[in-house]
Amino acid sequence: MKKTAFSQFLIFFSFMSSTAFSLERTIDQKVDALLKQMTLEEKVGQLTQYTGDLAATGPITINPNKQSEIRNGLVGSMLNVLGTRYTRQYQELAMQSRLKIPLLFGLDVIHGYKTTFPIPLAEAASWDLDAMELSARISAAEAAASGIHWTFAPMVDIARDPRWGRVMEGAGEDTYLGSKIAFSRVRGFQGEKLGGIDSVMACAKHFAAYGAAIGGRDYNSVDMSERTLWETYLPPFKAAVDAGAATFMNSFNDLNGIPATGNSYLQRDILKGKWGFKGFVVSDWGSIGEMVSHGYAKDGKEAALAAIAAGSDMDMESNAYRNNLAQLVKEKKVPVKLVDDAVKRILRKKFELGLFDDPYRFSDPEREQKALNDPAHALAAREIAAKSIVLLKNENNLLPLSKDIKTIAFIGPMVKPLRDNHGFWAVELKDMDPGYIVSQWQGLQNKVGGATLLYAKGCDFEGDNKDGFAEAVAAAGRADAVILSIGERWNMSGEAKSRSSIHLPGVQEDLVKAIQATGKPLVVLINAGRPLIFNWTADNVPAILYTWWLGSQAGNAIADVLFGDYNPSGKLPMTFPREEGQLPIYYDHFNTGRPAPDETAVNYVSAYIDLKNSPKFPFGYGLSYTTFQYSDLKLSGTEMKRDGNIEVSLNVTNTGKVAGEEVVQLYLRDKAGSVVRPVMQLKDFRKIKLAAGETKPVKFIIDNSKLSFYNKNLEYGSEEGGFVLMIGSSSADIRLKAEFELK
Ligand code: GLC
Repeated sequence: MKKTAFSQFLIFFSFMSSTAFSLERTIDQKVDALLKQMTLEEKVGQLTQYTGDLAATGPITINPNKQSEIRNGLVGSMLNVLGTRYTRQYQELAMQSRLKIPLLFGLDVIHGYKTTFPIPLAEAASWDLDAMELSARISAAEAAASGIHWTFAPMVDIARDPRWGRVMEGAGEDTYLGSKIAFSRVRGFQGEKLGGIDSVMACAKHFAAYGAAIGGRDYNSVDMSERTLWETYLPPFKAAVDAGAATFMNSFNDLNGIPATGNSYLQRDILKGKWGFKGFVVSDWGSIGEMVSHGYAKDGKEAALAAIAAGSDMDMESNAYRNNLAQLVKEKKVPVKLVDDAVKRILRKKFELGLFDDPYRFSDPEREQKALNDPAHALAAREIAAKSIVLLKNENNLLPLSKDIKTIAFIGPMVKPLRDNHGFWAVELKDMDPGYIVSQWQGLQNKVGGATLLYAKGCDFEGDNKDGFAEAVAAAGRADAVILSIGERWNMSGEAKSRSSIHLPGVQEDLVKAIQATGKPLVVLINAGRPLIFNWTADNVPAILYTWWLGSQAGNAIADVLFGDYNPSGKLPMTFPREEGQLPIYYDHFNTGRPAPDETAVNYVSAYIDLKNSPKFPFGYGLSYTTFQYSDLKLSGTEMKRDGNIEVSLNVTNTGKVAGEEVVQLYLRDKAGSVVRPVMQLKDFRKIKLAAGETKPVKFIIDNSKLSFYNKNLEYGSEEGGFVLMIGSSSADIRLKAEFELK
């Protein structure tokens, strides 16, 4: 009997694998067949990407011939062309070309298309992977309905220096959390299978280590050990490959002396070699040509040679390939097989997206209207925005505010603006209905419209003008409670927005002092794209919410938290410094030979004599309107072998009066290794919901992967010895501890 079943299985398996294989061969066969028909100029065309004229996200080079080049099959992709109307127009030009190879349309759909979600750093503060996947899923559905095939997201750069304005675009400082988020976001954008009508290609960027720019100055050099590169900066990119990311984008920076765009170690040895990446790599805007500025190529021709040799498949807006690649092949300086490999990678994606079957399948106006006005999208945006808010302080439980308050003064430069809630990298849709963005003022009116609401701007985001203070103080004087909303304007963090000072800009902290002096109950909302420094506010104001830039539903989400309809559950994905002088500062640092035993010790220890050694707010920190107790930590054993594991269990109880969510964080410390090991590293977490008084068990598994690291020879693995296990509510609030041995 068994024999028959097994032989039936074999027949079925061989049929299925041959079908799948023949399907795969079908696409590869089509690509090969098309490649054979292409001229060298048409091949180079597929490697050329131009920007549309609707929006520029980099330095523009005027080229009046774009449309004729598309008609002649000399362009493979356009970015910054959006909407079914414009994408259809451009695609019609491509369909006039000899081989009718469709264009790819790419766009920075970083945190939403029409519905704008919280900036990625804010979403990372939610520690809710499902919510982040949903956010990317909705963003993809809206973009795909508007003719977009490809988003230049997720940005997965680990970043530990908040002077760098692009921290807003990533998942913060931690490799484990950043890797989990990278995986979820790629899955969200691409859906179950690439080519779905509501999916777009993802693009893991910026490969690699762009977030480690010296001094936090954008585009600056990066210099680090290979071990740090593998240990800290590469894992989120590997997670993106594991999630099936269709494309990668390389980065502007030079890494250890070689620009990423011309770096074959990164793009060929690691990405396409070791990791087996089958998609394609697009350069960042102009980064191929910028290798001349780097001093890595003497001219555009040498830059083109370096880039194609290193594995940069598509040239975004530098024209280096268009101007030089065919000639380099003719001069036998570039083997045509390198060009063919790049072309095949790009054509394969166009087949997978179904564009050869129907080049206009993503440009359907009716579908666009439906997708862009789905009320479920706004609801999802409101929910993840509330989950992204971090409660930094709540003295005497001033929050949540009562809905019966008679008079509320809502003060500050962030109260009424619309656009600023979208933050950087929001898609600017032309005929966008401004009502689509719920301002913070509107959110308050929606929540407590029956109260008397007083408004005063107080001051601007920047500048030293305090003329508005008197009106603001007067409004506060007439109110029962004051909400003050301050921070950064939408373009004070983002690309090319590095800041040498990350203090609250302008005279905003003086405004806080003036309002605090009225003695009225005061809640401060800090809106920003990065960790800011606001020491006086943090030390003197009773209640503070970090509200980042929360997107289209900012006003409603903030009101939900202010009045307790959502109990804040966010945890900081980046360390907040006391001063810039501490930077870079991050939680998983090495211990050094002279660690400071506490935050005031200075004698012959690693510390500052003029500042506490600790951060202002630590990684993983965030309060709730309730409290949580951790208990009953149990380990299934205190020894494990590499092929074994240890089961960890504990109980978490909601010891307060309202339901809430807690992010239970598991950290490990390897007590001694063949290289020094961090004082702690996040190795797992669970976000759990508990009713008031409820207790829930939480379980983790410690296996060898959680103990492994790169040794001095870049060999990845674990080493016998002792480990400390820490379970906490933040990296600085460890509730339970235990030790175990790897034998
Ligand atoms: C920009 C950014 C990159 C973006 C690209 C296209 O310069 O560095 O993240 O995707 O150009 O807009």
